[in-house]
Amino acid sequence: MTATSRLPGFYNLPLAERVELIAQQAGLSAEERASLRESLSTERADFMIENTVGRHALPLGIATNFIVNGREVLVPMVIEEPSVVAGASLAAKLARAGGGFIATTDAPVMIGQIQVVEVPDPWAAKVALLARREELLALADSVDPVLLKLGGGARDLQVRILQTAAGPMLVVHLLYDVRDAMGANAVNTACERLAPLVSSISGGKVFLRILSNLADRRLAYASVTIPEAALAFGEFSGAQVAQGIEIAAAFAAADPYRAATHNKGIMNGVDAVVLATGNDWRAIEAGAHAYAAHGGRYTSLSRWQRDGRGNLTGALEMPLALGIVGGATRVHPTVRTALKILGVRTAQELAEIVVSVGLAQNLAAVRALATEGIQRGHMELHARQVAIAAGATGDEITAVAAAMIGEGTIRSDRATALLRQMRGA
Ligand code: MEV
Repeated sequence: MTATSRLPGFYNLPLAERVELIAQQAGLSAEERASLRESLSTERADFMIENTVGRHALPLGIATNFIVNGREVLVPMVIEEPSVVAGASLAAKLARAGGGFIATTDAPVMIGQIQVVEVPDPWAAKVALLARREELLALADSVDPVLLKLGGGARDLQVRILQTAAGPMLVVHLLYDVRDAMGANAVNTACERLAPLVSSISGGKVFLRILSNLADRRLAYASVTIPEAALAFGEFSGAQVAQGIEIAAAFAAADPYRAATHNKGIMNGVDAVVLATGNDWRAIEAGAHAYAAHGGRYTSLSRWQRDGRGNLTGALEMPLALGIVGGATRVHPTVRTALKILGVRTAQELAEIVVSVGLAQNLAAVRALATEGIQRGHMELHARQVAIAAGATGDEITAVAAAMIGEGTIRSDRATALLRQMRGA
């Protein structure tokens, strides 16, 4: 259990000391500590996908300062983009001033879809299927006795009639509680098991049997309140920052062009934790954007406004089909360590942290955009990346980056020239 996620100066520590500190806080064994450095072996990778030829590494950082539902949490994030981990940590620090994030989730209920075509009488078939709901649910429950024992299993059946370009069709939705799994395997198997009975009851032909990534029965919700005074920085008063964020959020709510970028900022945080915990980020992305359009028009997933006392309040609601068992969670050593650092016992707890990180990331982005602009924060790490790409090593990296920032020109040709100059000298 993490004692505190507030680790001032963590950013400035050498990498080895950061690892030491996190290992102490999260009680990591020597093996778990090692898994941060040397993760998935090629032998294991070979079992995960087809035609494996190697591995592909990304940076793993720890976002600090998070309090979620009163618990101090250190958040592992895997991402290639500079400023994301720093942004999440900064926003979480602001959130601490109001007690951190409050988050909750629906029960982990996934939707499986069974498409039925060539149904002679769709309305009669719908009634017939619903009349035999209990039998169909019992059949779905027979697929995974372990899941049933853990409290999961079939919850309900819904039948929709669609008019489509290929003619009318029935779509049966199986609502299935998958507990701590992401659930794709369990749901797909259950749908396949139901197919013959659905076909015989409806008189139609079953076609597709697959889960829906619009997991809108499995939503995660986060909210945060930040006292106005905590938002002040530099030349900006707390009131200015709060008002700026409110105006930025209104833009995203009203305009799909802005909403896409606003939501991308949320997904910077969400995806980084989803990746660190070995989850399917394509499923999360698909669900998030489909949910953002569920009202018929694409809009922002989060809301920001001031309450009567000037405090800034934010909320995020999105589907989060995340697992802590199955898939990469078992095979990938770094994923297991990431879950241990998070200290989560259920997939719902993981989703509560992920939705809070999404809200934090969103806050970091709109706070910067509504005040000094996004480039200042990006500059330093971006300059370092450009310096490294130009061939700088060791102390040269900081020197070349600092020179480019000083000049206000961050370009690879300038990095190369500066490097040549330094080496010449
Ligand atoms: C960049 O990765 C994310 C932002 O564009 C998000 C936003 O505009 O809100 C900064």
